[in-house]
Parts: sequence; C-alpha cells; structure tokens
Amino acid sequence: MRYSLLSALAASAFVAAAEEPSYDYIVVGSGPGGGPLACDLARAGYSTLLIEAGGDEGENPTYADLANFNEAANDEATRWDFWVKHSDDPERELKFGHTTWDTGDGTFYVGTEPPEGAKHLGIQYPRAAVLGGCAMHNGAVCTLPQDEDWNIIVNKTGDKSWEADKMRRYFQKIEKNDYLPSGNAEHGYTGWLSTSTGDNSWAKNDSLPATRILKKIAELTGQDPAKATDLLNNDMLGAYENRDEMTSFFNMVSHGDKNGKRSSPNNYVRATLADPKKYPLTLQLHTLVTRVLFDTAGAVPKAIGVEVMEGASMYKADPKHVDGTKGPIKQILAKREVIVSGGAFNSPQILKLSGIGPAAELTKFNITVVKDLPGVGERLADNYEGSLLALGQVPIESGLITLLFRTPSAPTAKRNIFTWCAAFSFEGFWPGFPAYYGPNQYTCAMVHMSPKSQAGSVRLVSADPQDVPDINFRFYRDNGDDDLKELTEAANLLRQAWQAAGDPALPFEELHPCPAGTECTDAHQMEHFKLQAYSHHASSTCAIGADGDVMAVLDSKFRVRGVQGLRVVDASAFPVVPGAFPVLPTMIISTKAAEEIIADAKGAAAAL
Ligand SMILES: Cc1cc2nc3c(=O)[nH]c(=O)nc-3n(C[C@H](O)[C@H](O)[C@H](O)COP(=O)(O)OP(=O)(O)OC[C@H]3O[C@@H](n4cnc5c(N)ncnc54)[C@H](O)[C@@H]3O)c2cc1C
Ligand SMILES: *[C@@H]1O[C@H](CO)[C@@H](O)[C@H](O)[C@H]1NC(C)=O
Ligand SMILES: *[C@@H]1O[C@H](CO)[C@@H](O)[C@H](O)[C@H]1NC(C)=O
Ligand SMILES: *[C@@H]1O[C@H](CO)[C@@H](O)[C@H](O)[C@H]1NC(C)=O
Repeated sequence: MRYSLLSALAASAFVAAAEEPSYDYIVVGSGPGGGPLACDLARAGYSTLLIEAGGDEGENPTYADLANFNEAANDEATRWDFWVKHSDDPERELKFGHTTWDTGDGTFYVGTEPPEGAKHLGIQYPRAAVLGGCAMHNGAVCTLPQDEDWNIIVNKTGDKSWEADKMRRYFQKIEKNDYLPSGNAEHGYTGWLSTSTGDNSWAKNDSLPATRILKKIAELTGQDPAKATDLLNNDMLGAYENRDEMTSFFNMVSHGDKNGKRSSPNNYVRATLADPKKYPLTLQLHTLVTRVLFDTAGAVPKAIGVEVMEGASMYKADPKHVDGTKGPIKQILAKREVIVSGGAFNSPQILKLSGIGPAAELTKFNITVVKDLPGVGERLADNYEGSLLALGQVPIESGLITLLFRTPSAPTAKRNIFTWCAAFSFEGFWPGFPAYYGPNQYTCAMVHMSPKSQAGSVRLVSADPQDVPDINFRFYRDNGDDDLKELTEAANLLRQAWQAAGDPALPFEELHPCPAGTECTDAHQMEHFKLQAYSHHASSTCAIGADGDVMAVLDSKFRVRGVQGLRVVDASAFPVVPGAFPVLPTMIISTKAAEEIIADAKGAAAAL
C-alpha cells in the first residue's frame, strides 16, 4: 500500500523511488530552530534525519572565533544573499544608501548612483546556509525576549506553558553559563550553549571620555551616575521582577565561551553525532529540501516525508550557484513527523511549494493546494535598527556600553530600545560591510523592539524550489511614525550623552543621522531612519496564533494547522518579534518543541 501511494507521488521523471521510511523524524534546517530539536529527538531515542542545505564550517576559524563575525557574514562559503525590499515604493527603495546592484562583470555596486546598465538587486539580507544556520555568522548577542513576547502566546492560544516564568526553564536547560559562579538559580550550567560576557573594568577609569558618556547616559535615563560602572555588570539574562520595564545598563552576553569560541547548534549537533552513546541522529549536508510530501488519501492530509535535491549550492541565493545546475531529486520518508526549520524566509517557501499557503498564490503557480492557509509567508516582521555614527577627535578607548531603555513616547511603560555603544562602525548589511572610518569612529547601534507594523511578506516568484522568493518587509507601514519617533528620541538622548565626552574627544563629528551641515531636526532624523533603517531579525512568517484566526499558521504546539505530522520550529513561529535579538529565543523554542514532540510520541505509544 505504501508503495502504490509513493508511485503516485513520484509521477514526475527523475524522481528516485522512495524506500520504506527509515526515520521517525525528518528535520529540515540545522539552525537555532532545527538543530537543537533534531539532537533532542535523537537523544530521546528517536531516529532523526537532519537535512541541511549548507556544509559544516565548525572548525573554520572564521566561524569558530567570535571576533571574526563580520568576515563570517560576508563569507561566500556559506552566504545566501537575499535581496529584499523595505517598501512597495520603488523610489523609496532607491534611496537606501547601501542598495546593491549587479554590474554584470561579477562585482556589486553599492550605493545610489549605479553605473550605466547595472541591474538593481535590492537590499542585501545575509543568511548562513551552514550547519548551525545563522548562529554561525551572527553577532552572537544573546538576550531573552521581553516577558510579554512569551505571554502574548498564552493570551492568543490559552496554552499556559508559554508563560514567561515557565519559559526560563528551557533557557536553563540549554545554558552552560561561563560567566557567573555556579549555583545561580536563574541560570543553567550543564547545557550545550556556552554563554559569556566581556570585561567592563574599563569603565572604572573616570578620565576616559567613554566613561563620561556612560555617566551622562545614566543621568539621562534615571540611573545613578555614581553606580554606572557597577550597573554595566547587571546580568542581561537575569530574572528581574518587572524586567520588561527595567531601564538599565547590562553586561553584553554572547553565545560563546570565555575564550571567544562561538557556541551554537553546530557544537550540539557534532557532540550528538560523536557521542559514544550512538544516538540515532543522521546528518545530511548539502541537500536542499524542495517540498514536503503528503498522503492525501485520508480526511486530513498527513506529512509523510520530504523531497530533496542533492548537491551543494543548489539554491539561487547561494553566490556559488551555477546557472542551470540541478542535483538529483530523491524522496525520504518519515514514520512520525516532518519538522520544517528553514528560517523565516525558507520555511514559508517550503510550505508553499508543498501546497500549504494562500490558495490564490499557490494556484497561480499551478501548485496543488493541500491546505489553504492565508498566513503562510505573511506578517513578516523585524526589529528596526539604526545607528548614530561619529568621529571623535581621538580614538575613544572603551569597551561596550549596553543599555535597554524606554523613550518618552513609547506606548506603554515598557522599554523599547536596546543600544550598544563603542568604537566601531555598524550601519547595516551590504556586500563587504562594515565600512571602516578610521580609529576615531564611534557608534551607538540601536535596535527598536516591538515594531508596530507586521506587514511584510515572503511570496513565491515561481514553483521552482531553486528560486529565491520575493521578500518585502514593508517597514513602518502601520503606525510607522510612532516607531520613527521612538528611534529619534533615542538618537537625541545618545547624542546628548556624547557631548559629555569632554577633552580630548570632542567635538564629535557626526556622520549620521545628522552630518555636518544638516539641521538636526526630529523630522530630518525620522526621514533618515525611515529610509536607512536596516534589520536582520526576520520572524513571524509561519506564526503561532489563536484558533479561529485565519492568519494563524501554527497552534501553540508548533503544529501546522489543517494537516497532520508537520510542524514549523524556527523564528517564523513567533507571533511577534521576540525582544531585541531572536537567536536565544529561537533556541529556547527549539528545546520546547522537542519536549512537546517527545511527549506526543510517548502519549501515542501509551495509547496503543
Ligand atoms: C548577519 C547576522 C547577524 C545576526 N546577529 C544576531 C545576534 O547578534 N543575536 C541574535 O540574537 N540574532 C542575530 N541574528 C539573527 C539570528 O541569527 C537568527 O534570527 C536565527 O539564526 C534564526 O534561526 P532559524 O533557525 O530561524 O533560521 P536560520 O538560522 O536561518 O537557519 C535555517 C537553516 O535552514 C537551512 N535551510 C533553509 N532552507 C533549507 C532547505 N530548503 N533545505 C535544507 N536546508 C535549508 C539553512 O541553510 C540554515 O542553516 C543575526 C542574523 C544575521 C543574518
Ligand atoms: C493578556 O490579556 C490580558 C487580559 O485581556 C491583558 O490584560 C494583558 O495585557 C494581555 N497580555 C499580553 C502580553 O498580551
Ligand atoms: C585611565 O585612562 C587614561 C587615559 O587613557 C590613562 O592615561 C590612565 O592611565 C588610566 N588610568 C587607569 C587607572 O587605568
Ligand atoms: C499552469 O498550467 C496551465 C495548464 O497546464 C499552463 O497553461 C500554465 O502556463 C501553467 N502556469 C504556470 C505558472 O506554470
């Protein structure tokens, strides 16, 4: 019976006949969403196949040494270039300072005055196709979301297991704390994810301009300037009461160990494969999942496996992809479930290619609709990011100043801005980022939390799984001026603090948002952040939502609504952008999902 079902599925030519299912679970994508989950399932004794489009760069120092993160994000070995839009307005798109063009001779042009004949690509949005996903090239900033970002899921779904205080348990389970003495009840010490912090002792030196900036920020944000140095050691991952409303400096936590080695799902997968207990985990690299296979014979379609295209660089976002190259197509079956964890761009694409998505969009590309789910690929959201960049008169010696605070027009009592200031430059992403402005460069980078708009989308351009979908964030579409005002208020506060730097640092020559010669009005800055904001925390394209919400893609157990045997576990699952940085929240939900899946499997076994 199984065979006849499959021969029907394998109608198209070049498809190798699938064999009897040899895995309990198939997990698609080894990033923060899929990697930990696959390991946990295998460690619980379930045979699990983890499929990853990229290779393994775990030993490569570009990835293994956290200090090289900018090189990692630029590295062609793993880079997937998505060329995204920030709006539906083509004129506005051309004003993004780092918009990128293909010159036709194998090079990019970045900027607003392209050479004749160059083809407009859009805004570069890097992703890492590699064992460990974007946790292998990211800045490794490790934060928990706002408590509200978990509680909102309880409100939507009634599932109390998402309450913020209960979610801490998953964090403790994965954490291997490398910066606090053992025994701190808010932390974990035996997990697979190392966490560490930098050294803040620089701030004890009162004669440094950066220390004066720190104290001024303290004064402007209602903190005691005399205690500012100690406040820099506040634990960013601590369980403070009312933490969503807590304006404070914090230590900057990274997912790395105290020797600066990156810690990510890559380590966990490799440790699981190497374990003498021989857990039933199989890793298949360099394999692009092209769709999920369904048994549609019953009343409810059931996911039974995946179709893959084997070979490296099969996806056209990969700069190493050679036009026209195709790998062999195979089918692989799962006895229990398929879990899609391709990230916020690829998970909705995979679902749509499999017939799960807005019916009209699928029909346009002759994709047979398995389940009409209008929310797939919609509600794309991201933190808005912007920066203040200036040149001091001398190099500004310091470590990081990390601060979470609330600006006056924030809609609630909750903090809305995460900022970190230091002698570096960060202005977003483009081929070859970041720019170097010399030793005197100084930046406060800002991440705006809880964006009011979630109007972005990931939509198919064809039914070809090698094609890259159309991605448009539609930044600021709903109540955008409110968010722009909040960013501007934050910039004004930080700029004011800079003026306390004193000799020999001042005057700071600002490069943006207010370069010399511009009148630094709020309107000017709002326009700057509207046109030049960047982002790299995409989420919510397969969001968890309430029963009866047509835009809900998942239930609170990550199950794709309307089908069986299929879940999505990655940054696409969050109904709202989780806090200021998504990587730790994504690893947390990966761990939660594994527990849910194992509980279901055990429940089913008990029922037999
Ligand atoms: C440059 C950069 C810097 C960042 N810095 C930070 C930071 O400092 N802190 C922070 O919290 N967050 C940061 N982020 C964001 C964070 O890394 C991501 O939110 C997080 O990695 C999302 O995890 P994910 O599992 O949803 O997706 P991903 O990390 O994208 O993982 C998805 C995986 O699935 C694979 N895949 C996709 N499609 C297929 C397919 N069809 N077949 C097979 N495999 C497939 C991909 O190759 C990839 O390995 C950064 C992101 C970028 C791009
Ligand atoms: C949850 O719902 C309650 C009652 O409607 C409301 O007071 C609270 O603000 C909501 N919380 C979140 C996080 O949405
Ligand atoms: C403080 O910084 C100044 C300026 O860099 C330096 O000259 C001085 O030695 C530092 N003091 C201490 C105690 O480190
Ligand atoms: C869909 O199928 C129809 C009928 O076979 C064909 O005419 C049309 O070109 C197809 N459209 C696409 C986008 O492939």
